[in-house]
Amino acid sequence: MTTPAELAFTSADLTPSELAHLQRLFRSWSILADLSFSDLLLVVPASTLPGEEPRLVVIGQIRPNNRPTMLVQDLVGQTILRASWSLSAAALERGEVVRGAVHHPLIGESVPVENIPVRFGDRVIAVMVRVYSRAVATPISLYEKNYFDVFGRLVAMIAAGEFPFAQEEVGTEETPRVGDGFVLVDGEGRIEFASPNASNAFHRMGVYSTLEGHTFTELGVEASAVQWALATCHPVVEEVERRPDVIVLVECIPLLEHHAANGAVILMRDVTDVRRLDRLLLSKDAAIREVHHRVKNNLQTISSLLSLQARRLTSGDGRAALYEAERRVRSISLVHEILSRDPSDQVPFDEIVVSLVRMAEDSVVSPRPVEITVHGDLGEVTADIATPLAVTLAELLQNAVEHAFAGTGAGPVAGEGGTRAPDRRVGHVEMTLAHGPEGLEVTVSDDGKGLEPGFDIERTTSLGLSIVRDLIVSQLGGSITMGAAEGAGTLVEIHLPPAR
Ligand SMILES: Nc1ncnc2c1ncn2[C@@H]1O[C@H](COP(=O)(O)OP(=O)(O)OP(=O)(O)O)[C@@H](O)[C@H]1O
Ligand SMILES: [Mg+2]
Repeated sequence: MTTPAELAFTSADLTPSELAHLQRLFRSWSILADLSFSDLLLVVPASTLPGEEPRLVVIGQIRPNNRPTMLVQDLVGQTILRASWSLSAAALERGEVVRGAVHHPLIGESVPVENIPVRFGDRVIAVMVRVYSRAVATPISLYEKNYFDVFGRLVAMIAAGEFPFAQEEVGTEETPRVGDGFVLVDGEGRIEFASPNASNAFHRMGVYSTLEGHTFTELGVEASAVQWALATCHPVVEEVERRPDVIVLVECIPLLEHHAANGAVILMRDVTDVRRLDRLLLSKDAAIREVHHRVKNNLQTISSLLSLQARRLTSGDGRAALYEAERRVRSISLVHEILSRDPSDQVPFDEIVVSLVRMAEDSVVSPRPVEITVHGDLGEVTADIATPLAVTLAELLQNAVEHAFAGTGAGPVAGEGGTRAPDRRVGHVEMTLAHGPEGLEVTVSDDGKGLEPGFDIERTTSLGLSIVRDLIVSQLGGSITMGAAEGAGTLVEIHLPPAR
């Protein structure tokens, strides 16, 4: 869908660089509306067909933050006969500021307007129309006088093609506004005027002396932005940090006359609270990471203790059990290892799979070499699924390398009192992973000797598969089946429903 603004742009007769100039004006013109306490419109000549009456089209509108608006209606996209907006047409033709008054249909009386030609290169490309109330026409307070003075200087710059600045503004949504704190300095950087909010910002920075007549440096505020802006004739944004707990964002806009800076406007905003929140968020992240790191370290310590203890036993059931326990703890620590690097609740499961496969390969004890291959991936998995799933897959891979290829063939092999040649065929273990709208699908299969006749995973009481069943069915609400694979061997299939 085309917005009124886009429509207006396409109906205007402008080159891409002229359009870019106007877009830069839009990015910085809130300061103009606030300094002049006025509504502003931007009008350009509309493209017309031959024989058609010349028209203007409104391509932008902004309201002041510090006064009620004079224009409640949205005028962007409207076209007007050039003849009926004669003051704007005159500013466009003559390249001069044209002041006057127009009848305001809603207010029912005439209101003052100022038509400011917007120059780009040697062409006047648009007119900025300032609409304001008679009440603001005559400044009463010192700060209003200063605002108007600066607005007048910016108007002259717009008419001379010196504002907006050719260089892309550094502005973000955090850029200070006039109401945040306004300081006017002369060509040497000496303060001529500071608004009450600007004085507050100085107080927060520990400066209580008179501001007028002093430079920022003399006041002890190291804001190089001011000197830079005056020297380079370009706007500069800087964050000034005073004492560890006060941060003030300073935007310095040089005021130019005949391409030389004879002063500058400085907008200041105390961003201490914003930055403090940023830092808190960062440190919360760091704290979570640290916790995962410590959990991982502690789990690794436990697994080393178990393995030390296992080594002290003579081989047998006890020793095997300790090694099993050690391996289980290690598979849990894998998840925390990954969470300690990126503490989001999403864990890239591929990285865990790589480590699980390596762990299983390391524990191959049968004389047959075992090859483990992985197909597909699960992508990101939430942390509360990652841990039980990692433990499950560790158990299944371990079972495959431990049981599927052990003791195949009848009778003892040569070297163990028998005559049969040892079986050296490569055993294959395959794991497939898929993550779809139906949930997670994982299978682990091998081409080994297969399960004992009558085996049933629902009824088995052995520890490894009981853990797996409990994790998948009770904890994750999924299902698991275990049976004969096609051809030979064992196939385990796991399904987990999609996360709610
Ligand atoms: N891939 C497989 N191929 C052949 N038999 C298997 C396979 N997986 C499991 N089994 C059989 O199922 C039994 C139960 O496995 P389970 O993992 O519960 O216990 P375990 O591996 O013997 O001991 P642990 O508690 O140390 O895991 C195994 O002893 C084994 O006989
Ligand atoms: Mg097992």
